[in-house]
Amino acid sequence: MLTLKDIVVVRDKKTILQIGDFRLEEGERLAVIGPNGAGKSTFLKVLALLETPTAGEIFFRGDKVTGQNSLTFRRRMAVVFQEPLLLNTTVFNNVAQGMHFRGIAGVDRQRRVDYWLDRFGITALRNRKPLHLSGGEAQRVSLARAFVLEPEVIFLDEPFSALDFSTRLELLEDLGTQLANTGSTTVFVTHDFNEIPYLTDNVAVIDAGAIVYKGGLKSLLAGEVAVPAVQRFLRPFKMSGQLLV
Ligand SMILES: Nc1ncnc2c1ncn2[C@@H]1O[C@H](COP(=O)(O)OP(=O)(O)OP(=O)(O)O)[C@@H](O)[C@H]1O
Ligand SMILES: [Mg+2]
Repeated sequence: MLTLKDIVVVRDKKTILQIGDFRLEEGERLAVIGPNGAGKSTFLKVLALLETPTAGEIFFRGDKVTGQNSLTFRRRMAVVFQEPLLLNTTVFNNVAQGMHFRGIAGVDRQRRVDYWLDRFGITALRNRKPLHLSGGEAQRVSLARAFVLEPEVIFLDEPFSALDFSTRLELLEDLGTQLANTGSTTVFVTHDFNEIPYLTDNVAVIDAGAIVYKGGLKSLLAGEVAVPAVQRFLRPFKMSGQLLV
């Protein structure tokens, strides 16, 4: 579905991302993990066509992405960030917002918004303004706003990191259910191994701007991956007993 070829991202004269070959398959659900500053968000933004790499090529369903067609492709994707970025209007309007650019209007639009408000358990918040929503509620609105677009790929960058443990758990379960129902191709960035099993067993580890491992989470946690950067990253999780999975 998305292919990266010889991608390099240089910022402030520093190479922050370097990826020779990467493929995201149709229907694939990939978790991306790595230390702070490793390049996870940069990787996600390159894939989501939100950041133009310094060098290299990106293909969306076989078509090379260019300055001319990238906006068209971008409208077939949706992104959820850690901060909900909601507008000062009703929850309904926030969720309906992106459909405007995609030419969906009237009854169809309303039906779709109401469907996703229900899926994420926020129908009661339909006419509320985001200012006084809890962090968890606001992130539910962000999720509904992404899913309502029926995107071909959905990107999530540490969407639940700012939430308390029980809220995080509920949202992970609900997100996992909806991703399973829709079969959406997904890239989910996290810094917490414990979040991954709710969504997938398929993980990429990024370190110093490179993908140093891509494969099963279980084999990674079982210590079967002989990549020094992976072992270095995993060690503090194991030593501190933070690993619940
Ligand atoms: N526009 C920019 N200009 C200069 N440096 C940048 C820019 N964007 C990112 N960087 C640097 O590139 C590196 C990777 O950043 P990135 O945000 O992708 O990391 P990350 O893995 O998402 O980190 P975190 O876990 O903290 O979210 C960091 O060292 C960051 O400071
Ligand atoms: Mg980041």
